[in-house]
Amino acid sequence: MRIGVISDIHGNSIALDAVLRRIGKDKLDEVVCLGDLAFKGPSPSECVRTIKSLGIPCIFGNTDLYLLSVVDGLKPTHSIAYKPNVAEIPYLQWHTSRMSSSDIDFLSQLPFEYRLEVDGQQLLFVHGTPQDCFSAIQPTDSLERLDNATQKADADWIFMGHIHRPFVFKHLYVMLVNAGAIGFSLDRDWRASYCIVDTSTKSVCLNRIEYDIADSVRAAKEVDFCFSPDWYGEALQSGFWEPVPYEKRKSVDNFPK
Ligand SMILES: [Fe+2]
Repeated sequence: MRIGVISDIHGNSIALDAVLRRIGKDKLDEVVCLGDLAFKGPSPSECVRTIKSLGIPCIFGNTDLYLLSVVDGLKPTHSIAYKPNVAEIPYLQWHTSRMSSSDIDFLSQLPFEYRLEVDGQQLLFVHGTPQDCFSAIQPTDSLERLDNATQKADADWIFMGHIHRPFVFKHLYVMLVNAGAIGFSLDRDWRASYCIVDTSTKSVCLNRIEYDIADSVRAAKEVDFCFSPDWYGEALQSGFWEPVPYEKRKSVDNFPK
């Protein structure tokens, strides 16, 4: 079975569409999405609707929880709470105000993990680690940390996103794979990232796809994106998103106006 793994779309529908076009040619048996669908991109609703309409199995990422935290009266089906800081709230609300109640419902009902048993192998799909969606496993982690993260996972493969940097390595008997990000990279390679696992050959391929960043910036300008569209374009092009605290973003974004 050949399975495509996509993650961290972050409201960048131009990049998502480019990856899905390529995946269509890859003739996969299944595609799984590892969350972070909507926040920090100009097209949050479009990305949620695309994943939903294609029936792609999907789990929630940390920024999906960020968005849900500013929706009044919502009772998520999971128990992980997030409390945004005051300066972050208007950015989250910019996104949720452009999403339908059906988009929000979809996010709120996403599970923490997804599992498949294929060709005698257990595949686990999570956003961050098997334990939570806010932290990550890295190849440079200590053996103790890798032991703790993998021992109770009950999986031969663990697929992750969250850090926007793809990798693959083996720890003991577990293959650890990060699919990278579609919406924006953090490894200085601007191209959208996804991976394909072939369970019959026990192999995995990390793929990068070029897409038109100018179209993403155009989309940001059309909707008066809360993050400065010019800054957004530079971040996409450089393949790195310089973290700026929300309290200090006013000079970059002129938002809220
Ligand atoms: Fe992300």
